[in-house]
Amino acid sequence: MDKKEIKKLYNSKVNLLKKYNENYFDKNKSIVSDKEYDEIKKEVLDLEKNFSYLVSKYSPSQIVGFKPSKNFKKSLHKIPMLSLGNAFSEEDLINFEKRIKNYLSLKNDFKISYSAEPKIDGISASLTFKNGQFHKGLSRGDGKEGEDITENLKTIKDIPKKISHKDFPEEIDIRGEVFIQNSDFKSLNEKFANPRNAASGSLRQKNPEETKKIPLNFIAYTFGYESGLKVNNQFDFLKKLSEWGFKTNPLNKLTIGIKNLIKNYNEIEKKRANLDFDIDGIVYKVNDFATQRRLGNVANAPRWAIAHKFSSNKAVSKILDIEIQIGRTGALTPVAKIKPINIGGVIVSNATLHNEDEINRKDIRVGDTAVIERAGDVIPHILSVDKQKRLKNSKKFIFPKNCPSCGSETIKEFNIVTKKVDAVRRCSSEGYYCDKISIEKLKHFVSKEAFNIDGFGKKIVENFWKLKLIKYPQDIFNLDFSKIETLDGWGKLSVQNLKYSIDQKKNISLERFIYSLGIRHIGLENAKLLSKHFVSFSELKNLSKKTNYEDLLNIDGIGETQVNSIKSFFSNEANKRVLNELEKVLLIKDANLISDDGLLKNKTFLVTGTLDGISRAEVKSLIEENSGKTISSVSKKLNFLIIGEKPTKKKVDYAKQLEIKVIDQAEFLKMLNKTS
Ligand code: IVH
Repeated sequence: MDKKEIKKLYNSKVNLLKKYNENYFDKNKSIVSDKEYDEIKKEVLDLEKNFSYLVSKYSPSQIVGFKPSKNFKKSLHKIPMLSLGNAFSEEDLINFEKRIKNYLSLKNDFKISYSAEPKIDGISASLTFKNGQFHKGLSRGDGKEGEDITENLKTIKDIPKKISHKDFPEEIDIRGEVFIQNSDFKSLNEKFANPRNAASGSLRQKNPEETKKIPLNFIAYTFGYESGLKVNNQFDFLKKLSEWGFKTNPLNKLTIGIKNLIKNYNEIEKKRANLDFDIDGIVYKVNDFATQRRLGNVANAPRWAIAHKFSSNKAVSKILDIEIQIGRTGALTPVAKIKPINIGGVIVSNATLHNEDEINRKDIRVGDTAVIERAGDVIPHILSVDKQKRLKNSKKFIFPKNCPSCGSETIKEFNIVTKKVDAVRRCSSEGYYCDKISIEKLKHFVSKEAFNIDGFGKKIVENFWKLKLIKYPQDIFNLDFSKIETLDGWGKLSVQNLKYSIDQKKNISLERFIYSLGIRHIGLENAKLLSKHFVSFSELKNLSKKTNYEDLLNIDGIGETQVNSIKSFFSNEANKRVLNELEKVLLIKDANLISDDGLLKNKTFLVTGTLDGISRAEVKSLIEENSGKTISSVSKKLNFLIIGEKPTKKKVDYAKQLEIKVIDQAEFLKMLNKTS
């Protein structure tokens, strides 16, 4: 087949899928068997894998999960539905607790109580009750906005429709998991791959009568917005839930300390196979609500909770090849291409090998028979290889000393924090010089947490790149749409949609903009810190004129690693050009401070010395939440210097000289109407 014929074949298969999807999601009709559907889907994906010029926005590689159905109204969650960080080992848990203790300035031997709750693998939902009446039910959606699935939720017997207990809050969003019991799933005639898909499919039926046919369950475990809730901790809340008529997980347990969490984890893991519902881990939540509030969230997950995942499924397969992928930051990641194998319901054909050291340590070679592990949602990895089964002529894998994309030398950097040489080898070229790095930078730029341009996914980036339509981020905003219209798979309407999506995203917050730049070591949280510090794009841009970056160390949360990375980014000529060009096409909004009429309005603070029971990060959050500002040095701009134990004498003397008010912790807390 020539290129034209392949494209024709590909487009016809994609169109079929599009038709099936529309019928399934919008008309609630299955016009093809699941098997047939899966086969066509696989053919499309295989074609894309073999012929990289194939692309379509209707391809299953571009549509993630379920397409939001047109049947449901969207509605905002009053309080976002967060996700959870993952822990896979005891070490991860120890670190989780350490972060909490550091943040709260607690002594190492302080005992924290946790509510340990088995994590049911279902679909989360948020149920709003007003004056005891079930008022509205939303799906999680993207966490901020969900689908209104009230009518379907009403068919679930576990959801009380009216609650008349005296202590039931005036208004509350009760959140929990909708799921199907394994025994019920087995007797279902529908062809769903697993109970979770069945629950999700059933909840999204257009017709609640259809939902009713599938025996859905609901287990409650948390709340969103509330007014009138009189409970101080999670475990008491769980008790209240069952008093109010909700089902809660009978295996929930109040536990103190990591050792006991692990003990409980092992016990539940043993019971796991005999439970009538699928669980994929245990959620640990700091029990005390006041402590939870102090801890707050990082990005979209709470600091006070974590999901301890069960170890995964393993399988044996053959390593067909070892490919080197190049990431946005130049990291060379070896990936094993393995003979496709089903691990716990997912077909796996790639497994990460982490880095060069890992390959050497485990002596992993092409042709080896390997044990592959898939844990939770993380990328599968190679656990070990069977050296007995190795052929005589097998050769040790030699890691490339030059970048496979641009040929530049590859290097291992010295990490100033760990004082060790990095395990990761990197392409030493300057960002945009290396094609692979550039492409990855662009993928990051349009990604969900960055510019989040609808319909502009990774495949499109690759395709436009190959067609030389884009090379730098600014090119996305200067696209030649008339040219795109002539491309295969594109038409007037899809181009119009793309143009609209791009135009919409020209207006962006400083925080997202900084994150989008893909500066190494500057993730969402650091981008937020920088945006709060610089407030405006012009202030940020001034970084490129700087020669000394040391003052950035005064930003709480920004360390030497980040400062070095910021320095190398802003002194790079290509990056400076990108910033100049982006400035011309974008409207970058100033960072707005959280509220502007709090108790500390128009007041600036600086802390010196260690405070008692409260960390720097928390003081900073407290000040900002109350409309105050923290600044990084003593100057005429400073209103209050807060002194703790062992303050810097120079700062105190200088502040006194400038007649700045010097206060201690108690005086500071008094300003916030707090006593301790
Ligand atoms: S609490 C802020 N508790 O896990 C806390 N979640 O990745 C977030 N889940 O979407 C939710 N059992 O679907 C919580 N006992 C439990 C849970 C639980 C299952 C799911 C839930 C959520 C996901 C978080």
